[in-house]
Amino acid sequence: MSTTEAHTDLPVFDHEFVQNLHARYDKLRATTPVQRMVTRDGLEVWVITRYDDARAALADPRLSKDVTRLKLVINEKLPPEAARREFASEMAEHMLNMDPPDHTRLRKLVVKAFTARRVEAMRPRVEEISAGLLDAMADESEVDLLDAFAFPLPMQVISELLGVDETRRDDFRAWTNTLVDASDHASAKQAAEAMAKYLIELIEIKRREPADDLLTGLIEATEDEDRLSKHELISMVFLLLLAGHETTVNLIGNGVLALLRNPDQWAALVADPGLVPAAVEEMLRFDGPVIHGTFRHTAEAVEVGGVEIPAGEIVWVGLASANNDPERFAEPERFDIERDAHGHLAFGHGIHFCLGAQLARLEAQIAIRHLVERFPNLRPVGSVEDAQWRFSSLIHGLRSLPVHPGTH
Ligand code: HEM
Repeated sequence: MSTTEAHTDLPVFDHEFVQNLHARYDKLRATTPVQRMVTRDGLEVWVITRYDDARAALADPRLSKDVTRLKLVINEKLPPEAARREFASEMAEHMLNMDPPDHTRLRKLVVKAFTARRVEAMRPRVEEISAGLLDAMADESEVDLLDAFAFPLPMQVISELLGVDETRRDDFRAWTNTLVDASDHASAKQAAEAMAKYLIELIEIKRREPADDLLTGLIEATEDEDRLSKHELISMVFLLLLAGHETTVNLIGNGVLALLRNPDQWAALVADPGLVPAAVEEMLRFDGPVIHGTFRHTAEAVEVGGVEIPAGEIVWVGLASANNDPERFAEPERFDIERDAHGHLAFGHGIHFCLGAQLARLEAQIAIRHLVERFPNLRPVGSVEDAQWRFSSLIHGLRSLPVHPGTH
């Protein structure tokens, strides 16, 4: 066992890293698959880049998600000159920030709404929303596919599932963008406050007008504080809406970009839309929406890939990197909708495995099938090589995706 030396000259998650994600990860996997690196604001993190190590780490209970302890770890580690992180605590008490038993209690409250059967029952409505958005696109000669389609589809679906009005959808998008992309902590704090206020309003409206929806069910659960506290309720709604905003949109966006960059694959889907489910798995593997992966911290010392990570360290499990590990997926840089991409870690693994995975799959499968059927001649505006990635340490998504629907 060895302890890797910190490479303070190796910045991770800076602009250059994000624009060249795959090349950077390839190098790490090949040289130092468990590597101490430093973020822009001087935080040391351990980055895990190989598939087997990443999968094992995600299932390891010694790698904790408990955000209260994580806050202490982060603020202890940040250099004194760096602004101390402000956490919007009303929205932080959600299952993705907890270990068992709290995690188990919170997940149980919503898991039934996301089973394969319940999600399948949503198919006709998702198809209707998708078709409506594409109808509106057909009249345009040029549109941003993210604004016109990839964003409103999952947003409307999750809003309807929760039972919330989405009139302030654009505000919500602006706030989540600020939070996810945040480079300055002051605007992130402002966005978090505005968002918390909005969530409290949504909950108040629903309390006055209960209906047969998920939010009403959650509000009822708060009558017994042991099941769900007020802050946990706000945090749950935050997590579900955020997941609706920032993930599926980029699965569709990144996936369509990969298809446009590989016209033979687009043509294969046009010829046989039956390939769509496999194509969506390959999109998740090849360029999933969660950028580097996800963090944990070591509740006790853990050995990963032969390297000892001491207790009290921050660990990034590199999902994108794991999904491009040539030891697991042959020729990972090749986007191939007919490969067997199963086993990818885009939805995580273990007890925090994505609650919305079935829903995200359903939405993306419908979206891609509708696109190839409706707009077989869809083409990019300008060169697909010019696509610009958003700068975020959480989300891997495009700034925009201008296309010609091909109907003109
Ligand atoms: C957890 C990815 C869509 C709700 C996760 C995790 C990943 C992920 C990687 C685990 C993070 C970790 O272990 O630290 C994705 C991707 C999506 C997507 C790639 C779309 C393509 C959704 C949707 C919803 C959702 C649509 C809900 C409507 C959740 C929730 C958790 C979660 C609630 C926390 C589960 C837990 O802690 O037990 N997601 N997600 N996700 N996701 Fe998703």
